[in-house]
Amino acid sequence: VTPVEKRGGVDRKPPCTVYFYTMNHIDAGRYWNENAPAWTALSRAGADVYRDYLNTPAFFSILPEVAGLNGLDIGCGEGHNTRLLAHRGARMTAIDIADNFIAAAKQMETAQPAGISYQVASAVELPFPENHFDFATGFMSFMEMPETEKVLAEAYRVIKPGGFLQFSISHPCFNNGRRKNIRDTTGKTHTVQVSSYFIRLDGEIDEWIFKSAPEAMRADYPLFKVPLFSRTLSEWINAIVAAGFSIEKMQEPCPDEQQLKDCPALEDNAAAPYFLQIRCRKRG
Ligand SMILES: C[S@@+](CC[C@H](N)C(=O)[O-])C[C@H]1O[C@@H](n2cnc3c(N)ncnc32)[C@H](O)[C@@H]1O
Repeated sequence: VTPVEKRGGVDRKPPCTVYFYTMNHIDAGRYWNENAPAWTALSRAGADVYRDYLNTPAFFSILPEVAGLNGLDIGCGEGHNTRLLAHRGARMTAIDIADNFIAAAKQMETAQPAGISYQVASAVELPFPENHFDFATGFMSFMEMPETEKVLAEAYRVIKPGGFLQFSISHPCFNNGRRKNIRDTTGKTHTVQVSSYFIRLDGEIDEWIFKSAPEAMRADYPLFKVPLFSRTLSEWINAIVAAGFSIEKMQEPCPDEQQLKDCPALEDNAAAPYFLQIRCRKRG
């Protein structure tokens, strides 16, 4: 992966600096392709606890009935959430820009067929005709794509009139790449600090790995390298509306008592949300 060139900075909302990087969806996709083997192994081993105990259950709690519908999952990764949609009776097609993820998803489809058709493609240029799908989803993928407006326009194009798009993203207010959890002496987060809400990250690389992965497994894999593309809340909402969608539902997953009991690591999410989920509709 070619290092990203930092071209300079301008002030958007003084004194916040906006950095411009030369990164597009293809560049970002290369990072994801390299992340894919470790991400697949660790998430399949249960290390993505925020997804499994909180974000995905919340997403499905607001998902309309999809049985019998023709659905597209955009940025499907190794296919975990696509399979859950198929198990709800949707006829699923799924795309991801990273061929390593699509290979892993196809392997699982061969081992445990769920009728899902996977292909390598970018959300910026969806290889489908207009008005093709009853609905589309994006689980924690849209914020990984620098061309936010094009991604939403493409989703709008391929959804039938009356169909919906539901997606989850890193919360633009509380998880913008500059979040810091302030903990008490027991390690519990009581405050969340977001130092630069208006910063415009366009490809800064964040290196991390699932905290809940067993130490022995973590040692086997390199850190993920995730390019960050931050957008403010109003930028997201304005882009959704500009694409033509009507916003129908929003949700910020917060763990309940049972979820905290099942997975104490979720407690950071109770101080301020990591995720934002949005359902919007193409008018019929
Ligand atoms: C955080 S992962 C989420 C994967 C999966 N949806 C899940 O919930 O497990 C983000 C995904 O977005 C994919 N992605 C990034 N840019 C993309 C693009 N332009 N088009 C399609 N997929 C993309 C990555 O390859 C990666 O699989």
